Amino acid sequence: MQTEHSILHQYELGPWDNLMYLIEDKQTGHCAVLDPAWDINVIDKQIKDRGLKPTHCVITHNHYDHINMLEPLLARYPDIKVFMLDVEIDWSNFQCKNLVRVSAGDTIKIGENTVLKTYHTPGHSPGSMTLQLDKALLTGDALFIHSCGRSDFVGGDTRALYKTINWFADTFADDIVCFPGHGSLENGSATMESQRKNNPYMRFDTYEEFEAMRMDGRTPGSPMPEVSEEWKTKVESLQPAST
Ligand SMILES: [Fe+2]
Repeated sequence: MQTEHSILHQYELGPWDNLMYLIEDKQTGHCAVLDPAWDINVIDKQIKDRGLKPTHCVITHNHYDHINMLEPLLARYPDIKVFMLDVEIDWSNFQCKNLVRVSAGDTIKIGENTVLKTYHTPGHSPGSMTLQLDKALLTGDALFIHSCGRSDFVGGDTRALYKTINWFADTFADDIVCFPGHGSLENGSATMESQRKNNPYMRFDTYEEFEAMRMDGRTPGSPMPEVSEEWKTKVESLQPAST
């Protein structure tokens, strides 16, 4: 997707259908890497093939499948600044080099003309962050196309997620386009209009109905799923020697 000043590049990677993004400032070629995970070589190829200079890394939330290539990324690009919402940093005790605390409502500027607006969209995790780039909304694991994130993992809060999903539905215009943290490239974005009509999680009248569907068969406070041995080994092998 292109806007006047920016390009949003989407790619799919890893065993859990993560959708990841580069946010490019056209004038300068500076870019933000959103949620770096699974394979630094693939991420770096996306950067290099486009001739971009990564200056920012933005993390929607502190889950393994959104951050496991952060250290390899910082090893290759040591000057990158890493942006995470203050609430997420505090609940998960997140630490890394060049970390910048963001408060909801802050903006993140990339290059000359690319500006991300930040929102606090809790429920999947306490400090999940959504980012807006013009008419594009990067929703992380809060809102998916025709679905939404899980609230049964440690730090999840189904009532907060219900409020977040309704807030999306009530806040954004029909032509805002959602770009989620999981999905497929074929189905990688959708308008808010289509989600209001077709996303089942936006159509419940009561919290109880939402909870019944979202938590069906699930246990609150569950650990994240195990990664396959193959991917675990691969992710470990790509970490820089010093970490
Ligand atoms: Fe997640």
